[in-house]
Amino acid sequence: MTEAAVRLEGVRHVYAGDPPVVAVENISIEASKGSFVSLLGPSGCGKSTILRVLAGLIAPTAGTASIDGQSAVGCYSLAAHMPQRDLLLPWRRVEANATLGAEIAGIPRAEARSLADRLYERFGLDEFVHAWPSQLSGGMRQRLALLRTFLMPRSTLLLDEPLGALDALTRREMQEWLENVWQSDRRTVLLVTHDIEEALLLSDVVYVMSPRPGHIVARIDVNLARPRRTSDIISPGFVELKERVLEALHMRP
Ligand SMILES: Nc1ncnc2c1ncn2[C@@H]1O[C@H](COP(=O)(O)OP(=O)(O)OP(=O)(O)O)[C@@H](O)[C@H]1O
Ligand SMILES: [Mg+2]
Repeated sequence: MTEAAVRLEGVRHVYAGDPPVVAVENISIEASKGSFVSLLGPSGCGKSTILRVLAGLIAPTAGTASIDGQSAVGCYSLAAHMPQRDLLLPWRRVEANATLGAEIAGIPRAEARSLADRLYERFGLDEFVHAWPSQLSGGMRQRLALLRTFLMPRSTLLLDEPLGALDALTRREMQEWLENVWQSDRRTVLLVTHDIEEALLLSDVVYVMSPRPGHIVARIDVNLARPRRTSDIISPGFVELKERVLEALHMRP
């Protein structure tokens, strides 16, 4: 059996406090190398918590989390993490924001800049390299945060609602674009979303979560041909999968 790129086993996480918050319970998921996997569930079910565990930002209360066979606990350099808020630094221009993660990961600034130069056009930012984040639209900010994540020399990307806060049309365009970007270098992606169509358009596997404390209630394999296009969402195969996801969203552990 090939080692999964991402693996969680029996993960439980309780946030300390009065009262403590049980965020997720008994989460076991995996993503094989080069696959695109989504975590889908209602607000507050613990999706970001799972990514934070994999990013090494929080230690799970119970269970194990690993990336490429190495424990992610206390180790925040195994994957590139795009947090839910884009966290662009307003005092750094686009180019300096783009290279931030790569520089932190140890790539010399000049090299990071030349790597970024090759990506601006693909990320639709080539005319804004010297702009400030405040001069960008919402979609451009998210593309910049994604570019920064893609520039990190990591084989696993943890993307927390990377297309959230976009209007529906822009979001659809960005979904097609994200599929193309992913196809071009085939890194392992774990995507958090609460958009069913987005999950089905992009993923090989969709894990559906219950409301908090989040449990995995279904694992759905998406065997639709790629590349997928927005127009596919009315195809019978897609509609059937969507019904399965909707059904799963009503399941309780
Ligand atoms: N630092 C924290 N301290 C205490 N509770 C927290 C903390 N972070 C998250 N929580 C709680 O844990 C639960 C899961 O939060 P999490 O952010 O993982 O959910 P989510 O599925 O990402 O939600 P959303 O879709 O709204 O982003 C929520 O009830 C939240 O209030
Ligand atoms: Mg979240």
